[in-house]
Amino acid sequence: MTSDSYTFAKNSMSLYDIINKRRDVRAQFSGESIDTNILKKILQAAHSAPSVGLSQPWDFILIESESIRKQFKEHVEIERESFNNVLDNDRKGIFANIKIEGILESSLGIVVTYDPKRGSPAVLGRNTIDEAGIYSVCLAIENLWLAATAENLGVGWVSFYKEEFLAELINLPNGIKPIAWLCVGPVTHLETVPDLERFKWRKRMSLDDVVHYDSWNNRSLENKISDEKLD
Ligand SMILES: Cc1cc2nc3c(=O)[nH]c(=O)nc-3n(C[C@H](O)[C@H](O)[C@H](O)COP(=O)(O)O)c2cc1C
Repeated sequence: MTSDSYTFAKNSMSLYDIINKRRDVRAQFSGESIDTNILKKILQAAHSAPSVGLSQPWDFILIESESIRKQFKEHVEIERESFNNVLDNDRKGIFANIKIEGILESSLGIVVTYDPKRGSPAVLGRNTIDEAGIYSVCLAIENLWLAATAENLGVGWVSFYKEEFLAELINLPNGIKPIAWLCVGPVTHLETVPDLERFKWRKRMSLDDVVHYDSWNNRSLENKISDEKLD
């Protein structure tokens, strides 16, 4: 194992190992194909996610087509440029070093979509919080991401796109919303530090930065949770 990257061990990893090892991958795809059984396993893991009202409002569109991928990549390049245009010069300099997708280098694209009509009209648990449907799709994506990590695959989430463009590109029916384009495939290694931190875009916060006690205003600094010993 090198100091700044993980190589994969053959033995199985614990859930916490997998959670810690998972990375958003852009530059490390090897381009090798994905074993069909493993692809089924990671899709099944996604499909086993919790969902509001057991609506299972997701679909997975597997994108192998070179032509679709190239068209999507061209679109993402345009959206990258629009984002770049709103940055100040310092941020532009940092952003220039950051790769934001591995659309062509990965072995497979998986577009994950949301169908708000599935299980309707009365989706149990979505009555007051409409977004609960999209939360469910995001849980499916996280399941897929962790399962892929356990299977020594990398996943990269691409969101630099206009939803209408992607919907039209892959013929989504009206009302079906694309939630993510995932770049998926074997990798040479996973970095131990997120790219955005490695390239100095942003640092990860500590757990204590985000834990509150009883009310938003109480950060109880003298009793930090990270000082507790974990088994
Ligand atoms: C909703 C969502 C959208 C994202 N979109 C992109 C993206 O368009 N391009 C990219 O390079 N990374 C994208 N990411 C990955 C994040 O940048 C990454 O998760 C974060 O920097 C932490 O790194 P890690 O996943 O390696 O821990 C996205 C992640 C999420 C959850």
